[in-house]
Amino acid sequence: MDRRSFIKVCGGTAALAGLQTTYLETVRAAETKSFARVKLVDAEGNALKAGKLASGEAYIFHYPYKSTPCFLISLGAKAPGQKMQADDGEYEWKGGVGPSGALVSYSAICAHQLSYPTKEHSPISYTGGTVSKLAGSAGKIVCCEHDRVYDPAQGGKMVVTTKEATQPLAAIVIEHDAATDEIYATGVAGGLLYDEFFRSYKRALMAEYGPGGAKEEVKDTAPTLLMSKYTGGTDRC
Ligand code: FES
Repeated sequence: MDRRSFIKVCGGTAALAGLQTTYLETVRAAETKSFARVKLVDAEGNALKAGKLASGEAYIFHYPYKSTPCFLISLGAKAPGQKMQADDGEYEWKGGVGPSGALVSYSAICAHQLSYPTKEHSPISYTGGTVSKLAGSAGKIVCCEHDRVYDPAQGGKMVVTTKEATQPLAAIVIEHDAATDEIYATGVAGGLLYDEFFRSYKRALMAEYGPGGAKEEVKDTAPTLLMSKYTGGTDRC
């Protein structure tokens, strides 16, 4: 029995035993999971417009939970979709959206050991037009905590292989409304690491969001800020 089948059997058993949905989340880890359709808005609550996004820097918003940060990145060129491989199976990344197919979004929680951007500081960032020493090229997502490099133009897969392989960053499913130029988040595809994230940062999340607040799902709108406006400092590597 392969690992995926084994997890499915365990999930069924867990459900019979009355355990909660964390197992079910694991079962479907690599498949697209739908959440509320949420409009990305600016700090004043106005709809973000794809045509007005800066391209040299990532934006940060929180989705699907109030505490789980995501990158929104306007790449310089169309990003075609591709088949991806997460730890728990294959999934399809549909590629960039928007007028030129260059708008992409990923979980900003590192798939290695869950480093993430806080308001104070971030070890993980999008390098934009700057050539990162670690990546040896521009336009990558780098996590300076333990030197992982992910390519936002290739579904968020890890691209520098001097380190032990890490699964891709989970992809946030986004839609672009051509009539209004607005952007919506609708789901997550790939390896969902939210259970581990909530466990690992339990104390910090409790302090910031209060009891149960970190796991509340985002509804309706998600404020979306340039990374430099969201966080006090970003590691460079
Ligand atoms: S947590 Fe990002 S590289 Fe280890």
